[in-house]
Amino acid sequence: MSWHRKHLLDIESLSAGEIVTVLDTARAFKAVGERAIKKVPALRGKTVVNLFIEPSTRTRISFELAAQRLTADIVNFSADASSFKKGETLKDTARNLEALNADFIIIRHSASGAPHFLSRVVNAHIINAGDGAHEHPTQALLDTFTIREKKGRIEGLNVTILGDILYSRVARSNIWALTKLGANVTLCGPSTLVPKTFEQMGCRVTHNMEEAIEHADIINLLRIQHERQRQTMFPSIGEYTTLFGLTKARLARTKPDALIMHPGPINRGVEIDSDIADSGRSLILEQVTNGLAVRMAVLFLVNGGPGPQGVAVG
Ligand code: CP
Repeated sequence: MSWHRKHLLDIESLSAGEIVTVLDTARAFKAVGERAIKKVPALRGKTVVNLFIEPSTRTRISFELAAQRLTADIVNFSADASSFKKGETLKDTARNLEALNADFIIIRHSASGAPHFLSRVVNAHIINAGDGAHEHPTQALLDTFTIREKKGRIEGLNVTILGDILYSRVARSNIWALTKLGANVTLCGPSTLVPKTFEQMGCRVTHNMEEAIEHADIINLLRIQHERQRQTMFPSIGEYTTLFGLTKARLARTKPDALIMHPGPINRGVEIDSDIADSGRSLILEQVTNGLAVRMAVLFLVNGGPGPQGVAVG
């Protein structure tokens, strides 16, 4: 086992060994989730706070379920109903949560670096649930877990990430995780959203959709992050779909065993044809299911868990 971290702040600073430790631990937790009794007492007596300052469906609920399955107490912080509205700072909010004995703070925030900042001002374990356009580490871990489960490996696979890369924290975390584990990563989308500077992260960049998906084993689609774009990055949604949408005609020209992923929420008929999203080639809901096991693994490991063999004792 390779894990000695108090926090999960990003994928960039993790080693390949640490990523594999999370994936192996998550596999053990997925097996726990298939038992009649799905709970283990690993975090009994601990308090987890979901501090989500941005909206979320999948991440917030799967962290909540993960904490419950580990027998922790979980509190969901609602920014709109909090003293955030009265001008309380993030630091003061987190310190007050800690005064209420929060052992873990899971934070989603529109500002890149917010989780790193919290890790310096409180003693609780900090887990990044998405910070601005910077990183979304648990999404990348559940994505690599899903790919490894389906394909049996990561090394040597051709993974194409398609869409709004520039504003995507999911893309950045996936690029770090996949390249560290030896995948060949191709990025594709409009040149305004997929600048050549991403080649510095060890990826191939193309703006030709057909070329990007032709040899792909995995096609990971991203939605357009309108909430983060400060200017119009392409002429229209219709043109984006024409040039970069995954249609049935385009899917027919991919490898027959190429699989489709998307972190959600999906925009049906924009980046993905609705029938493809619901097809047997789509891993979208399996990604969500795997997110629960991965988030249990992350909570368990940052708490100082003894490793996958220890998980079976429940
Ligand atoms: N993939 C993802 O982060 O989804 P949510 O925004 O619903 O958490």
